[in-house]
Amino acid sequence: MLLGTSLAAAAAGRAGAQALQPGAAAAGPGLYQIAREKGLTFGAAVQAGLLASDASYAAAYEREAGLLVPEFEGKWATLQPREGEFDFAQLDAIVQWGLARGRATRGHALVWHESFPQWAVAAVAEGAPRARAVMAAHIARVLSTTRLRIRDWDVVNEAVADPPGSDTPQPEGELRNTPLLRALGPSYIETAFRMAREQDATLRLVLNDYGLEEDTPWAEEKRRRLLVLVRGLVQRKVPLDAVGIQAHLQIVRPFSRPVFRDFVRALRAEGLAVLVTELDIREGNGIPEDYVARDRLVAERAAAFTEAALEGGVRTFLTWGLVDRYSWLVSEPGVARQDGKLHRGLPLDWEFSRKEMWRAMAQAFAAA
Ligand code: XIL
Repeated sequence: MLLGTSLAAAAAGRAGAQALQPGAAAAGPGLYQIAREKGLTFGAAVQAGLLASDASYAAAYEREAGLLVPEFEGKWATLQPREGEFDFAQLDAIVQWGLARGRATRGHALVWHESFPQWAVAAVAEGAPRARAVMAAHIARVLSTTRLRIRDWDVVNEAVADPPGSDTPQPEGELRNTPLLRALGPSYIETAFRMAREQDATLRLVLNDYGLEEDTPWAEEKRRRLLVLVRGLVQRKVPLDAVGIQAHLQIVRPFSRPVFRDFVRALRAEGLAVLVTELDIREGNGIPEDYVARDRLVAERAAAFTEAALEGGVRTFLTWGLVDRYSWLVSEPGVARQDGKLHRGLPLDWEFSRKEMWRAMAQAFAAA
C-alpha cells in the first residue's frame, strides 16, 4: 500500500473523526503504513495470550503495528523461571504471529532489576563469578535461540537511578542499585552488552530507560545521568547501538520540544540511534471530565512529543500496548488512576477505535 502524503494525511484525519463516533469501523491505512511512507517504523507492545484469545485485539495489531515487542514474554522470569529451565513458548507465539504477517519482533529485556526471579537474585548474591556465569548463561541461551528472528534487543533496561528529589540532584548513586550492580559493580552493564555482541555481531543492542522526556529538574538530572553512562560506554567501545526512550509520559508534567529534541540529538551525536520504545500518556488530577476534552489533551501531548522526537532524529516509535482496554495504565497498581477513572493513553480506545491520539501520531508521521 503506497499512499502519498496528502492522501495519508487525509486518511488520518478521516479516521480520527470517525473515532469520535462509538464503534466506528477503522478505515484507511494503519499507523505503521502511514509511518512507513516516510521511512519510519511504528509498532506496539503486545501480549501473546491476548493475540490468541481476542480476535478484535489481534485485528487491531494487524491493522496498526508494523513492529511487535513482547510486553512480558521476553523478560527473564518468563524465559528462565528456574535456573537452566528455559521456556520460549510465549515469545515464540508472538514471533510466529508476526512472521506470518511480515511484522518483525524486537526483544525486551535481557537484563532488568524487575522480572528477575528470586533464584537469580539469590544466585548473583553468591559473588561475582557466579553472577557473571548466571548473566552469561541467560544472554547466551536467549540470543542463540532467537537471534535469527529477533534482531533488536533491549540488553539493559532501567540502569540509571532515579534522582532523589526534583531540585536536589546528588552526584552519588547514579546507577540503580540492582542485584547485578551489587555483585559486579557498574561494569555489569558493559559486560551484558559484550556478552550480547559475542552471540551475534549484527544484532541491534539497546540501552532502554525512562524518566528522560519531560521538562522538569528531575528529568533533567536523569538525562544527565544517562548521558554520562552512554558517553562512558561509547568511550570504552562497548557494543551499544541505540538508546531506547520509554516515554511513559504524564500530562501534568511540563514538556519542552526543544529540550527533548536536543537530548535526542545529543545521544545521536554519540553515534547512536534513538528509539521511542514504550510511549503512553497518563492523565493526572484536575483533568477535564469529558472524554473529548481528555482525549484532546492526550493527543496534544502525543503530537508535541512525536514531532520533537522526529525533529531529533527518532525513526522508530512503539507504544506500550495499543488499546486502552489492555493498557498497564489501567491494570497496574501505582500506575492506574486513583480516582476510579481509566487512563486513555494509547492510540486506540477501549472499543478498539482510533481516537485523537491515533490521529495526532498519524499526522506527525505523515508530516515528517
Ligand atoms: C510492565 C508491564 O506492562 C506490566 O504488565 C508488568 O506488570 C510490569 O512491566 N517499563 C518497562 C516495561 O520496561 O517492561 C514495563 O512493562 C513498563 C515500564
